[in-house]
Amino acid sequence: MPPVLEIRGLNKSFDGIVVADGIDLTLEAGRVVGLIGPNGAGKTSLFNLVSGVVQPDSGTILLEGQPLARLKIHERARRGLSRTWQNLRLFPSLTVLDNLLVAPRDYAGESLLRPVLSPRRVRRESEADRARARDILAHTGLAGVSGKSVGELTFGQQKLVGVARALMNDARCLLLDEPMAGVEGQAYQTIQAVVRELAASGVAVCVVEHNVAFIRDLCDEGVFMFAGKVLSRGPVHDLIADPRLTELYFGT
Ligand SMILES: Nc1ncnc2c1ncn2[C@@H]1O[C@H](COP(=O)(O)OP(=O)(O)O)[C@@H](O)[C@H]1O
Ligand SMILES: [Mg+2]
Repeated sequence: MPPVLEIRGLNKSFDGIVVADGIDLTLEAGRVVGLIGPNGAGKTSLFNLVSGVVQPDSGTILLEGQPLARLKIHERARRGLSRTWQNLRLFPSLTVLDNLLVAPRDYAGESLLRPVLSPRRVRRESEADRARARDILAHTGLAGVSGKSVGELTFGQQKLVGVARALMNDARCLLLDEPMAGVEGQAYQTIQAVVRELAASGVAVCVVEHNVAFIRDLCDEGVFMFAGKVLSRGPVHDLIADPRLTELYFGT
């Protein structure tokens, strides 16, 4: 089977800072890949390049064989590319349910305020969308708080809302950016279970996470990034045990 996501020779730099340096990476249906590496390695930038927030200098990204280069963020989302955000990007004053129904005007640029200032209702006002949102909330253990504003929730619940929102698209490929950071208790178990189920249903998942236990328990494989390069791919256990990678991870 061809990979769900295929990245070939991807390059990107910002004012001399290389964030993607000849990245080749594939994500396969039904598999969970853990993307690990120290802060600044380029993990979030890779998600930004794939989801269309940032344009590459060169290289190719294919989703189910189709090149993404000309597609805008929402067009990529519609084709089944879903992601969460390291810094949440939810609408704190809106209810949990509305956070799933409302889509931001666009996520371009680095402004954190923009999506908060300009939420826009798109395509998701139909009864079918509401039913889907309720279904996802039930599935992610959020049904009981669906009418609460997101700002009232615990941080773990907010992270869960981020994951739930990513599920509103019919995901073929799901990119999770540090879903467990700051999460404990029930939300931790739920996120783990949801990711497992998605993979079991054939979604290709890539998760950035510093929580080694989470990566080890959840991922079929690990990919180690450093300075915009994919240095290694293999069993998570092997990556963690590699002294060269451990030094890059913890060194300096
Ligand atoms: N829009 C941008 N403009 C300039 N530099 C950026 C931008 N986005 C990321 N960077 C830089 O790229 C490097 C990699 O960042 P990032 O992808 O966030 O790393 P990671 O997620 O692995 O911690 C960092 O040095 C960061 O400051
Ligand atoms: Mg990051």
